[in-house]
Amino acid sequence: MADGKIVGLDIGTSEIRVAIGEVDPETGNVQIAGTASRKSAGLRNGVIVNIEDAKNAIKEAIDAAEQNAGTTVESVVTAIGGSQIESQNSRGTVPVTGSNKSDKEVSRADVERVIQYSTAIKVPDDREKLHVIPQEYIVDGVGGIQDPIHRIGIRLEAKVHIVTAAKTIIQIIRSCIQRADYNLDAVWLKTLAQTQSVCHQDEMELGSILVDLGAGTTDALLLYKGAPVATASIPVGGNLVTNDIQIVTGISNSNAELIKVQHGCCWLPDITPENDMQIVVPGVGGRDPDIIMQSQLCQIIQARMEQIFTMVKSAIIRNTNEPISQLTGNIILTGGGAMMQGVLDLAQSVFQTSSVRIGIPEDLGGVEKDYRRPDYATVIGLVLANKSLAQSKDNRKHGKVHSSKPEKRKSGESKLKKIFKSFF
Ligand SMILES: Nc1ncnc2c1ncn2[C@@H]1O[C@H](COP(=O)(O)OP(=O)(O)OP(=O)(O)O)[C@@H](O)[C@H]1O
Ligand SMILES: [Mg+2]
Repeated sequence: MADGKIVGLDIGTSEIRVAIGEVDPETGNVQIAGTASRKSAGLRNGVIVNIEDAKNAIKEAIDAAEQNAGTTVESVVTAIGGSQIESQNSRGTVPVTGSNKSDKEVSRADVERVIQYSTAIKVPDDREKLHVIPQEYIVDGVGGIQDPIHRIGIRLEAKVHIVTAAKTIIQIIRSCIQRADYNLDAVWLKTLAQTQSVCHQDEMELGSILVDLGAGTTDALLLYKGAPVATASIPVGGNLVTNDIQIVTGISNSNAELIKVQHGCCWLPDITPENDMQIVVPGVGGRDPDIIMQSQLCQIIQARMEQIFTMVKSAIIRNTNEPISQLTGNIILTGGGAMMQGVLDLAQSVFQTSSVRIGIPEDLGGVEKDYRRPDYATVIGLVLANKSLAQSKDNRKHGKVHSSKPEKRKSGESKLKKIFKSFF
């Protein structure tokens, strides 16, 4: 990584995306210097299955982003999701030692000890801890504390969320990136990175579910009281919707993808006899063009997307004790599938709430604003989540001591971010 730069790399099943962010050393604000997206290769359902193909696609995407940003980069941060991720809640308690014998104020050392204690769970040899995220601290039975330092008490308890990933998957990702001649600085849970670009602090407090509608996988993260409480992933995404269209209509897969993106809709009530239209699909190998009604297309898409949302909802319910019907935040949709017409209505119907919105990364400057789409949530989130990395590298270069100045980005700037600054 060149100094002051942070490069987010999202290795998706259908697209590889890159965002190069530049951190202003004075204000700590991030500006997006350039982005790029290239067709992915060598992946199946979010997992790299052909290292050489994936490496070439990664190199191409980073090269293109470097050109767009007019700069070169040395290292990247990336994200993983899918079935290789597992997460669990844990807790631990320690006595408060205080900074000296006479007081019993919680010190930074106490917080570090309680985190260590609550994360001392046995992780199988083939997995590694990706994140340890404090959810809340409890001092002498009083809970809901986000920053316990200087609280007076005897017993300090921490509740944490631990995310683990398969070691081999991380090794494969690192190997691809290194073969493409870049270093890998950090690996984030994909949905957690996305919270940094699209979630607001208040909705994470009230209880929200972020749903990433990808091509090969659909991943979800349940947030409550400002922190993650459960993850879920199903190995099904937009590619299956395209396959359904191909199978039912008999058109080619590339035409099915084209008409899905251009005319697809997943909420049948939007299509009435008055506005239903004919979609002309070019015939294969000189055959006559096919004609498909948009309502027919919509029926196919809605059936599969309804199933995807239902599976996500069930997986989240399975993985948490929180009654999700009582969450009062939002369902936040990201990923390419969030650009489908009618997706808000369908999600509202399945999750039985009107609080559904599309997660679009906020405006972070830059000449091109092409990253303001739900499928850029991961790369922009990665840049925002890791900007302290760029700052510390920059400071090291200039001989400064690293100080992570909290900056005011929006209400979503916050606890979650401060927590990450402390622990990663
Ligand atoms: N305008 C659109 N309407 C409907 N679907 C769309 C639209 N644009 C993209 N998609 C779909 O979104 C999916 C790609 O989303 P995305 O780029 O987030 O996936 P990915 O990151 O490559 O995959 P994954 O996260 O599963 O590894 C594809 O299935 C694509 O057909
Ligand atoms: Mg994706």
